[in-house]
Amino acid sequence: MSRSLLTVILAAGKGTRMRSQTPKVLHRIAGRSMLGHVLALAKGVGGEKLAVVVGPGMDNVRAEALAAASGAAVFVQENQLGTADAVLAAREAIAQHTGDLLVLFADTPLIKQETVSALIGELDRGAQVAVLGFEARDPGSYGRLVTDSSGALVAIREAKDASPDELAIRLCNSGVMAFRLDRPLAVLDKIGNANAKGEFYLTDAIALVRDAGGRAGVVVCEEDEVLGVNSRRELAVAETIWQRRARDRAMADGATLIAPETVWFSFDTALGRDVLVEPNVFFGPGVTVGDEVEIKANSYLEGARVGDGARIGPYARLRPGAVLGRDVHIGNFVEVKNVALGDGAKANHLAYLGDGTVGAKANIGAGTIFCNYDGFFKHKTEIGEGAFVGSNSALVAPLKIGAGAYVGSGSVITKDVPAGALALERNEQDVRPGWAEKFRSMMARRKAAGK
Ligand code: UD1
Ligand code: MG
Repeated sequence: MSRSLLTVILAAGKGTRMRSQTPKVLHRIAGRSMLGHVLALAKGVGGEKLAVVVGPGMDNVRAEALAAASGAAVFVQENQLGTADAVLAAREAIAQHTGDLLVLFADTPLIKQETVSALIGELDRGAQVAVLGFEARDPGSYGRLVTDSSGALVAIREAKDASPDELAIRLCNSGVMAFRLDRPLAVLDKIGNANAKGEFYLTDAIALVRDAGGRAGVVVCEEDEVLGVNSRRELAVAETIWQRRARDRAMADGATLIAPETVWFSFDTALGRDVLVEPNVFFGPGVTVGDEVEIKANSYLEGARVGDGARIGPYARLRPGAVLGRDVHIGNFVEVKNVALGDGAKANHLAYLGDGTVGAKANIGAGTIFCNYDGFFKHKTEIGEGAFVGSNSALVAPLKIGAGAYVGSGSVITKDVPAGALALERNEQDVRPGWAEKFRSMMARRKAAGK
């Protein structure tokens, strides 16, 4: 059985190659920071204790860690003296902990939960330290996993310290390591910095554990999983890999994606059964979609809840606080923000619905605008059940339109409309029979006379 687990997440890197004001690990993949992904991974494998190591002055990284995992302990590594030094920044947490120790890098956000579980499984099988390795297409600057003739891991050699023979090894260190040691600090404190980089290498723990008679295990995963992000380009590659997995998962769970490669999910997108997603649909964070929903091409959804049987788009935009009941229809060029629509309500064309409620089965005509903002405050528009709002109506909030009421097309409505009433706000129409014919012949005569 796996034991109590302390996960130390190294997040001190500034990420200079990103050329960003934002620390590297706060850059996002699928709408969530890389640090957030790694914290979720740590929680997913049962890491009840979390320690995050940040660099000096990285208050925003600290805040993100606490937002994602309120119980996390945050430590500052004052000088970046190497990965072992970074882990030791969390000395206090390690000293207090009895159980396994897992080290993850916050800039390596794609590792799967089952992979880390397999790594911890190596500890269950008797290893004192276990390393996540991968066959590198280009081993480059990665640490090499050096094995003996029986295939057992004996050491990790950093590229800068490796012999030509060792450099030829393709099995590389991902950086992820797990320890089951009575006194991990005793090992970590023994690590020195007499190496090519003058750094305290966490990887030296392997040889130290072996020297003390322990066993070092290796679990091998796909290279895609251990992609480390150091540049905007690698960030985009990580996003691509993440999205490919999310699309596969969505289809495996019962959604139809007509052109999967054009659909973009967020880390928390939740789709029901038999959802149809047409091409070019983007899900920002916080979207939940019920069963048998159709999301037509070129729609953008974020922070929205979509009820069973609803139809969205094409070209619809659901913004945070859009809550759609069953069988709601939101059509082309309709934007919904912070509005709850009751079952069967419809807004099929060209509308802005912001801040309010729309009752069940109400019909919002083309071109309707909820005028929710006066330049200072936002106000609510409340539309009752079964109400009918004619096309091109401006509804100036705060405003209530009662159940079953009608609003005539082209109206600017500024006062509440009682249930069952008709509200109309436009000039009376002036009709002049035969006018067009008279006008045309008069103009034709003028033209002929040359004036
Ligand atoms: C490390 C491994 C190498 C492995 C590679 C995988 C060591 C000595 N080497 O090398 O075997 O193949 O990762 O990508 O562990 N960090 C700190 N503080 C420090 C140093 C590093 O927080 O003082 C963090 C970095 O922000 C980064 C991670 O630890 O997230 C790895 O550090 P990095 O300097 O990138 O190590 P590599 O040389 O890539
Ligand atoms: Mg690195």
